[in-house]
Amino acid sequence: MLGKKEINEHGHLVIGGCDVVQLAQEFGTPLYLFDETLLRENMRFYRQSFERLYPDYAVAYASKAFICSAMCRMVAEEGLFLDVVSGGEYYIARSSGFPADRIIFHGNNKTAQERELVLREGIGRWVVDSEAELEVLIEEAKNYRNGKLPLLFRLTPGIDPHTHQYITTGKIDSKFGLPIVGGVAREVMKKALAFPQFELRGVHCHIGSQIDSLEPFLKACEVMLEFMFQFWKETDFLLEELDLGGGLGVPYLDEQKDQFPSISEYVEAITGKVRAWCEEHSFPLPRLIVEPGRSIVNTAGNTVYRVGTVKEIPGIKKYVAVDGGMTDNPRPVLYGARYQALVANRMHDRSRERVSVVGKCCESGDVIIPEIELPRVLPGDILVVEGTGAYNHTMASNYNMIPRPGVVFVKDGKAKLVVRPESLSDLIRRDVLPGD
Ligand SMILES: Cc1ncc(COP(=O)(O)O)c(C=O)c1O
Repeated sequence: MLGKKEINEHGHLVIGGCDVVQLAQEFGTPLYLFDETLLRENMRFYRQSFERLYPDYAVAYASKAFICSAMCRMVAEEGLFLDVVSGGEYYIARSSGFPADRIIFHGNNKTAQERELVLREGIGRWVVDSEAELEVLIEEAKNYRNGKLPLLFRLTPGIDPHTHQYITTGKIDSKFGLPIVGGVAREVMKKALAFPQFELRGVHCHIGSQIDSLEPFLKACEVMLEFMFQFWKETDFLLEELDLGGGLGVPYLDEQKDQFPSISEYVEAITGKVRAWCEEHSFPLPRLIVEPGRSIVNTAGNTVYRVGTVKEIPGIKKYVAVDGGMTDNPRPVLYGARYQALVANRMHDRSRERVSVVGKCCESGDVIIPEIELPRVLPGDILVVEGTGAYNHTMASNYNMIPRPGVVFVKDGKAKLVVRPESLSDLIRRDVLPGD
């Protein structure tokens, strides 16, 4: 099992002190269920690890992993910053009362409406992604409400985190950021220096997601610090902030539990690297920013389904169909992501059968778990897919006009509904019948 889970006297799965079978009855299925203690613990692990090791830092939770008003409020309470990539994420954060000066605004194509909203309300850091964006901002930032607009510049350091092969290529192919190689980033940033409406705070990179080793992060530290150092030498301007993005991976399966660095190992490694590099080069320690998403929320999240049809094709396969699918979790279809599941109402059942867990969407590819050993599954059983906290709720769709699930936070035996499930009437809320 992932996260902190127990089994009660009825043989039911318990999360956050709550009986999951009862929650399924009370709130309906499918349902996203988050262990609030685990969410808060992960945020504190980040902060405490930095607190111990590094003088000046900020942890910005990447809201794209999972966002709702209650989550934004929790992030604010835990003293984190928030990373947003759209006017929508910014709006949810601000509506929940999240302070604008703790928000970092990303995006490779910020629209005019998004820029107007953020410039009107204020921002902690604006991350410039391209030269075209800077050009537009030169005019628009003149009337920024809080004076100088605090900028980070997103750079592409040319690191491949997936193969663990560090590529220092001449050509960096990404829709995000300004390439370091060829001097593109340096020239754009030098240009920005000339405008009094900007305050150049530092540089940013995000080398990828679900990264299972520390080396790519350490390499990114080196490349980024080298850039900051060169920029200082050439312009005499000291960039004070280094934002390393997110990307720390997490296990999705029990067998992967030892394959990922912990939050504290990650923080230890990057702070150690930055300290050592700065000492060696007599470079002032920058303020260090990280933007973790998945490593804060994934393990804390689960999806609770009710089993409907169970179909056996003799000698071939047994299909267990649940009342959700690619609409609430598109990751298996998108990336071939792997998950594990539990039968929450019969946790002591030792029978085993090999099944395929599928959704109810009108797509053969709507498979949540292609193959898994579970206790004999019956219609009406409550099936819990673990580790769905990140990029599930935020990537959910209404394909086949299936209403999206609600979200419940559980803690100390209490359950709080924080996003209500969509109703059928929600599905036509935006429809307009011509002529009416
Ligand atoms: C700029 C940026 N920061 C942070 C993150 C969060 O990454 P993760 O959820 O892997 O920690 C992402 C994810 O794509 C990102 O693009």
